[in-house]
Amino acid sequence: MANLVVIGTQWGDEGKGKIVDLLTEQASIVVRFQGGNNAGHTLVVKGEKFIVHLIPSGILHKKKMSFIGNGVVVDPEVLISEIEQIQKRGIPVSPKNLALSEKAHLIMPYHRLLDIARETKMGKQKIGTTCRGIGPCYEDKVARRGIRVVDLLDRKTFLAKLRTNLDEKNFMLEQYYGVQPLRRAKIAREAAGWAEYLGPFIKNVAGLIGQAADKGRHILFEGAQGTHLDIDHGSYPYVTSSNPVSGTVCAGAGLAPNRIDAVIGLVKSYTTRVGGGPFPSELKDKAGRHLRNRGQEFGSTTGRPRRCGWLDTVVLKESMRLNGVDYLAITKLDVLTGLDELRICVAYELDGRSIRYIPADLAAYYRCRPVYETLPGWKQDISQARDFSDLPPATRRYLNRISKLTGAPLGIVSVGPDREQTIILKNPFPD
Ligand code: GDP
Ligand code: IMO
Ligand code: MG
Repeated sequence: MANLVVIGTQWGDEGKGKIVDLLTEQASIVVRFQGGNNAGHTLVVKGEKFIVHLIPSGILHKKKMSFIGNGVVVDPEVLISEIEQIQKRGIPVSPKNLALSEKAHLIMPYHRLLDIARETKMGKQKIGTTCRGIGPCYEDKVARRGIRVVDLLDRKTFLAKLRTNLDEKNFMLEQYYGVQPLRRAKIAREAAGWAEYLGPFIKNVAGLIGQAADKGRHILFEGAQGTHLDIDHGSYPYVTSSNPVSGTVCAGAGLAPNRIDAVIGLVKSYTTRVGGGPFPSELKDKAGRHLRNRGQEFGSTTGRPRRCGWLDTVVLKESMRLNGVDYLAITKLDVLTGLDELRICVAYELDGRSIRYIPADLAAYYRCRPVYETLPGWKQDISQARDFSDLPPATRRYLNRISKLTGAPLGIVSVGPDREQTIILKNPFPD
């Protein structure tokens, strides 16, 4: 198995960064294929914490390549500052180990402003976006007026596109949203700096991936967000503007579907969500506070407290089907320690009927009530467990139940944020 996709099966923040960092040991290349700096992936190595937003989570490993694929939306200012911050911590980042797709779209200052202006105008109905300009950038991509990374290399084309885009955006910003317009000369000046800095990183990333795949290199594709934030399959409109499902690797990195060898589905052992939208198993009681406090459930990107709730297997089963999950990686199991009993949502009750799917109609999804199965909790500290047999019987029972309910085998179990705090049941990269 050479080409492995790691995706989130819930609403994001499942611990993708930790698992990608761990698996990078055995890979040659790590590739981001969708989303942008709305992502926040946390890596902890020997107690030292790193958060990456745009740069793939394999960056801490020497001699491994990190690619930002064409499906990613790239804020050049954020990318430059992330490169510099990682370098400051003694990790080399250069065109030798990081490549940026020439076809990726650029998040421009007006995208960020529009994101904020739209959220503000929506008031209580707001989506709760990360305000990083993600949605407005993807809108321009689909509308075929976006500015791509390659345009940075041709000043004339860049300035022409900037003029057309900014004329329209400034009209909207000023006339519709009542905010200050942006000055073209300032953006043009800044863009010259982006072009100079990022120029050496800009490559034909899809071509490089194809060459590496031909040579049989192990490639890890790192998902951002989670399946239920997918623009098509998630709880629309409370979603992000890209497709976090595994199939997006084909369009967002340029890998043919028959070259995907396995998909690892990240499952946090309970559920969290940042921003608005339905969440049937949400907890607002003592158990919810336990999960937020012990799990340190505060956004890696915005610092917002995450909404917390019990594990929801209606959500997970849909993710198994959509992504073709071969193995589960279950994270944050240690956070459940100390709870007397654990609940797993196995169905919803909708208008007096029991259902095991997510209604497309948002109002119906809001009316869904969780149907729970209850399992015993455990009190023992499990953060030092390194083998499945080290876990207490109640913990093993909980894990086996998740595997049974989702129909997917256990591959990895994470019992703490550190790279070391992991139990590997199935190595996804056999020799
Ligand atoms: P991502 O967006 O999916 O990469 O996840 P985030 O990094 O946003 O959020 C996951 C958080 O949980 C981070 O703070 C991780 O350091 C932390 N984490 C990951 N795995 C574990 C685990 O098994 N136990 C605990 N306690 N924390 C974990
Ligand atoms: P990672 O990769 C959790 C959520 C936002 C909001 C919605 C739309 O760290 O798992 P956007 O800014 O994308 O237009 O916001 O999506 N969201 C995330 N929630 N983890 C993420 O990424 C997220 N990226 C976006 O909170 O509800
Ligand atoms: Mg995150």
